Amino acid sequence: MFYEGHLPAFSFNTLCVRGLHEPSIDPELQRLFERGIDPGSLDEAKRHDRGDWPAESVVRRFAAECDVRVERALSSAAIDGERPYTILEHEPMHHETLLYIIHQLDRSLQNPVAQQHVDGAVPPRGFCNVGAGIATLGVNPGDVPFAWDNEMREHTVDVPAFSIAKYPVTNGDWLGFVEHGGPQPPFWRERDGQWYLRTLFEEIPLPRSWPVYVTHRQAEAYAAWSGGRLPTEAEFHRAAFSTPDGLERAFPWGDELPQPRHGNFDFQRFDPEPVDAHPDGTSAWGVCDLVGNGWEWTSTPFQPFDGFAPMVSYPQYSADFFDGKHFVMKGASPVTGRELIRRSFRNWFYADYPYVYAKFRCINF
Ligand SMILES: [Fe+2]
Repeated sequence: MFYEGHLPAFSFNTLCVRGLHEPSIDPELQRLFERGIDPGSLDEAKRHDRGDWPAESVVRRFAAECDVRVERALSSAAIDGERPYTILEHEPMHHETLLYIIHQLDRSLQNPVAQQHVDGAVPPRGFCNVGAGIATLGVNPGDVPFAWDNEMREHTVDVPAFSIAKYPVTNGDWLGFVEHGGPQPPFWRERDGQWYLRTLFEEIPLPRSWPVYVTHRQAEAYAAWSGGRLPTEAEFHRAAFSTPDGLERAFPWGDELPQPRHGNFDFQRFDPEPVDAHPDGTSAWGVCDLVGNGWEWTSTPFQPFDGFAPMVSYPQYSADFFDGKHFVMKGASPVTGRELIRRSFRNWFYADYPYVYAKFRCINF
């Protein structure tokens, strides 16, 4: 019910109420659907339980009215600045998080879409050496058409040389960890001694060559077990966007805008692919599958860059999450919209959030 109301209400609040100072539709529903919750635990989530959601017909009527008003504003009002971008990027973000919810639904409540799955051999584990150099994080306002407040401002970080896994950790790799007492990833199921993967709409024999989706805490446990650690946000940038000649590029593959051949993103699929499925997305250092096929966890807590200022159109967007308990993820998942794929984009979740499509890779000590 929240999602029925949230997207239209957010767009209406942002564009029409705050931007154009238009009259309200229903102040109480606008407040109810203003934003979601991010509970730190099940107990905290229960505090937000409410048995008194408005009737579906009421919410649908409200949502339809929001849509009419937003469309009218977009076609007739003088709109500039960040507000249209805010609503245009907010929407695909929630296409992704809504799929996280649908993924958890009882199968009888889903309306599945047919999809082929391909597994293959787990590529041999290998590491790529990334030389010392600078990583440019963030962007300056005006350098791109739009960026969220947490992406500002541009600054450089000196990064010592390191050695990073060529591919993200696969389900096959993780099996070895489970045999040594490692935890079960959230999307894995065990029946009669066999492992299966709960994909968005199916349950399939565990595809060994796909990246394993795990929580940040689980990723750290694996890294410690295997004698490595997670990359920092700056190290991810070095591995993905820098080159041995000292340049920095927009994407791992260069400066060409993201195309399907570069990686598994933008709803080409709902689920992962083998980690070596997109050689065209390889970075200048030979690191594969950095953007697409699952967000990548970093060891960096989500914090503001120097010069951070909460954005005018959505001041709570980032500022509420600078608590040291959320960690930065980079890249993209299969269901991350293409418009969200840019070097400076940062995503973040709690360390034990189990529903996110997030993979990881390790740095060798
Ligand atoms: Fe939202």
